[in-house]
Amino acid sequence: MEPRYRKNLNVLLPCFVVVGTMFGLVAYAPELYRAFCGATGYGGTTQRAYSDPTATSDKTVTVAFDSNVAPDLPWRFEPEQRSVTVHLGEQKLVFFTAENLSNESIVGHATFNVTPETSGIYFNKIQCFCFNEERLDPHQKVEMPVVFYVDPAFAKDSDNAHVDTITLSYTLLRSVNPDQAKNLSRFEANAAPDAVHGEQLFTERCTACHAMDSNKTGPMLGGVFGRKAGSAAGYHYSQALKSAALTWSTDSLDQWLADPKKFVPGARMPVRVLDAPSRHDIVAYLQKAGRERNDRTGSNAPISGGEY
Ligand code: HEC
Repeated sequence: MEPRYRKNLNVLLPCFVVVGTMFGLVAYAPELYRAFCGATGYGGTTQRAYSDPTATSDKTVTVAFDSNVAPDLPWRFEPEQRSVTVHLGEQKLVFFTAENLSNESIVGHATFNVTPETSGIYFNKIQCFCFNEERLDPHQKVEMPVVFYVDPAFAKDSDNAHVDTITLSYTLLRSVNPDQAKNLSRFEANAAPDAVHGEQLFTERCTACHAMDSNKTGPMLGGVFGRKAGSAAGYHYSQALKSAALTWSTDSLDQWLADPKKFVPGARMPVRVLDAPSRHDIVAYLQKAGRERNDRTGSNAPISGGEY
């Protein structure tokens, strides 16, 4: 794994929901984030969000990042890049860095907006990290991933005809409710992946095409751990996956989910999971589900896959 990604496991995960309809969102209202996540289908219901990158357009737009820190919060908080130019429809992974400059643990809270306001509805999150109250230990520094894309329909909206830059702006504030802070140790590099969160992500991002016990648009995934790639009975695979000399393990599943078409050129799965923590959680869920399935069926088939 890239060291950069390693570091990201050590991450403060904000509700970096990329959206503009909440322009002017008030601070200290975590329920608004939750309401938003629900309304836009925190994972899953916005299918379009996962059908990349075939819908990528030739048109590009620049997305600029802006960060602000309240004066009473001794944190540094900056985007790692001031702007990126993306093709409409293209998924993009960017990072923000947050560092606690003080000698005490402090709980922070983020708000954001997207400008111009007319562009907000075309800004889509792939990953919705729920930032409510998060704690940074003294001098702790974390990188926070944000995955987004701009809907190709942006180009057809006359309100945005002259918009060539969309700005995503975050403000970090000191929490007024620090007791509710989540324990960040779950994001440490050596934290065990979370199969329960993985199941949630699987439901949101995979079940449109996959089931555990039957073939759908995609092959059945029950028992996929340790299974040879392209070998679910009765599923019509691409030639590429069928003939790939691959057995599904922690490592190969991680690479597959990061970019199936890059990992197995010619494969047909049109979905990528760009951030490593989510991949680890999903893979942990697939492994656990496989184990439970074997317990149920009494199969002694070994579960392969490396240890985390
Ligand atoms: C839009 C539909 C779609 C979605 C959503 C999707 N997949 Fe797939 N998946 C496919 C297709 C199609 C294939 C078969 C690819 C081929 O034959 O080249 C596949 C194959 C796979 C395989 C290989 C299985 C085997 O038998 O070799 C795995 C593992 C997998 N998907 C996992 C996932 C996970 C985990 C998610 C959620 C993050 C997911 N997929 C989301 C369509 C999808």
